[in-house]
Amino acid sequence: MERTLSIIKPDGVKQGLIGEVVRRFEKNGIRIIAMKMIRMTKNQAKGFYAVHEKRPFFDSLTDFMSSGPVVVMVLEADDVIAKNRTLMGATNFEEAAEGTIRRDFATDIEKNVVHGSDSPETAAFEIGYFFNAFEIAG
Ligand code: CMP
Repeated sequence: MERTLSIIKPDGVKQGLIGEVVRRFEKNGIRIIAMKMIRMTKNQAKGFYAVHEKRPFFDSLTDFMSSGPVVVMVLEADDVIAKNRTLMGATNFEEAAEGTIRRDFATDIEKNVVHGSDSPETAAFEIGYFFNAFEIAG
């Protein structure tokens, strides 16, 4: 069993997509083993996205991610990092496959509804950023 971190971003929460995203995970055999709604400060968003610190979109991205509530979840399933990335679709929604979350609901490359860890190492860091062992029910 593998674990990954998923975030429903502020644009996803504002569009009323919490239920839709959760439904897609559950329908595809992904178990949600931890979940909470939080609002990040700018500094918390900077810490989360520290790998992107040097990218030109860093300031805008961390403003956006701290602009409203997000839902953070720990997902569990076999091969869940890849499964989640398939369900999300490409970062740029214009390149995302039909039927993916981003293709269906994203409005630009930044406001792309969901985030998912991209490797086991990133997943371990990202899960630990938001959850302690007592908060993970699985
Ligand atoms: P995410 O998967 O959360 O990882 C980094 C985020 O930066 C990405 O989704 C987008 O929300 C945002 N972003 C904004 N511009 C770009 C860009 N040009 N390339 C990649 N990510 C971008």
